[in-house]
Amino acid sequence: MQIWSHKHIHTLANFSIQDYESVFELANRFDALKNTGTKKIPALQGTLVTSLFFEASTRTKNSFELAAKRLSADVQTFAPSSSSLTKGETIIDTAITYSAMGADTLVIRHSSSYITFEIAKKLDAINSKTSVLNAGDGLHSHPSQGLLDIYTLIKFFSTKTLSPEVLNSKKILIIGDVNHSRVARSNLWALSAFGADIILCGPKTLIPDEFINFLKVPGPNQKEDPVKSRGSITISRSLEESIKIADAIIVLRLQKERMMENLLSSIDSYSSDYGLTPEKLSLNNREIPILHPGPINRDIEISSKVVDEYPNCLINDQVSNGIPIRMALLYLLQKYNK
Ligand code: CP
Repeated sequence: MQIWSHKHIHTLANFSIQDYESVFELANRFDALKNTGTKKIPALQGTLVTSLFFEASTRTKNSFELAAKRLSADVQTFAPSSSSLTKGETIIDTAITYSAMGADTLVIRHSSSYITFEIAKKLDAINSKTSVLNAGDGLHSHPSQGLLDIYTLIKFFSTKTLSPEVLNSKKILIIGDVNHSRVARSNLWALSAFGADIILCGPKTLIPDEFINFLKVPGPNQKEDPVKSRGSITISRSLEESIKIADAIIVLRLQKERMMENLLSSIDSYSSDYGLTPEKLSLNNREIPILHPGPINRDIEISSKVVDEYPNCLINDQVSNGIPIRMALLYLLQKYNK
């Protein structure tokens, strides 16, 4: 196992290949526990994981909490509506308060991009040992989702042992609302790190042409990209043409809550042009894997028939894989030399 050098996890933009491999190797070991009948291990006994979700979540929140319990950590859950936020306490002061209670890791979701950087900076400034783990901040980043997505693809394509290099030169089609998606941004960093060639497909209003340069701009607080050679990004406006050449598809949710202006003429026309259906999938003569981070808008970006009946629809595998991936992240942060 490589040395782990991150006190906080904000983004995959600063992950090296060794970082990814450490996470996958550990996740694979944790995943294998389910076959031994020993789901729970004492790896993080005596530590405290606090989930600070200021925004709604089903998968990420429960998966992190379950991951922490599987590692025998104590788990503390924050509920914004019954907290002192309602009396005007700030988010930063809320985080400092939980750190002062002894949280080893704060798992944070918030609607503001880059908020986890601000919180970590403040905690570091007061010499707190607490780690911050970004569970989704605004449009910016959702690192654990990016990791579980590519872990799911690597598992699908690996023949025997888990081999991230199976992604090299694979054409991964990402459909939909890339501009409002922190998941897409995390997927772009993660997939390209292993040489995947990514096709972004959707209307200009959801995928502006500038996305072609996404990987050329280092992440915040970062001088250079730790990954020496990345795969490519292309943009397509034709779903049919993209499906024909894809090796895997990631469908994104239409994020109506993040759309500041009217970006689509109608949901029906979006569905007709970019919704994934069995008919469109039949343009590819293989049964390629289909992923979606959830929650899904059935029959808008993806048809129920694809979700319920397509053999390689991996949405539930993504949810299951999220648990060992998040166990690995919590474990690695705890092992960082604080
Ligand atoms: N994929 C994802 O982040 O789902 P939740 O919003 O339910 O956590």
